[in-house]
Amino acid sequence: MKVFGLVVIALLLSGCGGSDKNSSSVLEEINKTSQDIINNIGQTATEAIEKAGEIGQKVTDVEGDIAQKASQITQIAEEALQGAANVSKDILQKTNETLSDISAKTDKIINDSASTIESVKQKANDIADAAASPLTNADKGKKLFAVCIPCHGAKAEKSAVNKSQIINKWSKDQILKALKGYKDGTYGGAYKATMTPTVKRLSDDDMEELAAYIVNLGK
Ligand code: HEC
Repeated sequence: MKVFGLVVIALLLSGCGGSDKNSSSVLEEINKTSQDIINNIGQTATEAIEKAGEIGQKVTDVEGDIAQKASQITQIAEEALQGAANVSKDILQKTNETLSDISAKTDKIINDSASTIESVKQKANDIADAAASPLTNADKGKKLFAVCIPCHGAKAEKSAVNKSQIINKWSKDQILKALKGYKDGTYGGAYKATMTPTVKRLSDDDMEELAAYIVNLGK
């Protein structure tokens, strides 16, 4: 618009004022106007270049902005990844801790079981021993009593050679006292010599076993 205005003014000056002025001054006027036009075009071009520059700057700014946003997004993504990695690490550690805890517990259970088994085994042995020991004693008493059977009867229910008392109703202490007495000569009746060879071979323990065995025969 500026350029167009100047051209109109130039034409008006050259056309209208021509009669009043000499041709050289008109020429000068035209020259000046032309120069103005050229200057104006130059300025407009400069402005256009500036605008282009500004647009370029804007584009650069936008690009920079995009680049910055992209880098922010990248950083957020990296942080998220790091977070996820930390969580995984945490889970892994917790899992490891839990595993070692379970393993310790399992060890304890195994140890406890082992000691329980050991103590049960011990108890079983004790019971077996306890069960075996009276059986052994009874067996021993039975064995020792075999030599007495011909005179006193299998159940000690007889009067030996019709001379002794029936001893299967006696108490253990009574039997023991008689047997020991026959051995050391502090007990006995008229037929005590019949008992002497038998009791000579008996130890105190044997007498104990015999007395315990005979007591049960009368029950
Ligand atoms: C050969 C037969 C004979 C045999 C074997 C024999 N006894 Fe006797 N026993 C007698 C006679 C007889 C008397 C009674 C003796 C007396 O007068 O004190 C007697 C007495 C006893 C008495 C005391 C009873 C009482 O009357 O005062 C006891 C206890 C006894 N015998 C236990 C045994 C035992 C235990 C054995 C086996 C280890 C045994 N005898 C083996 C014949 C025997």
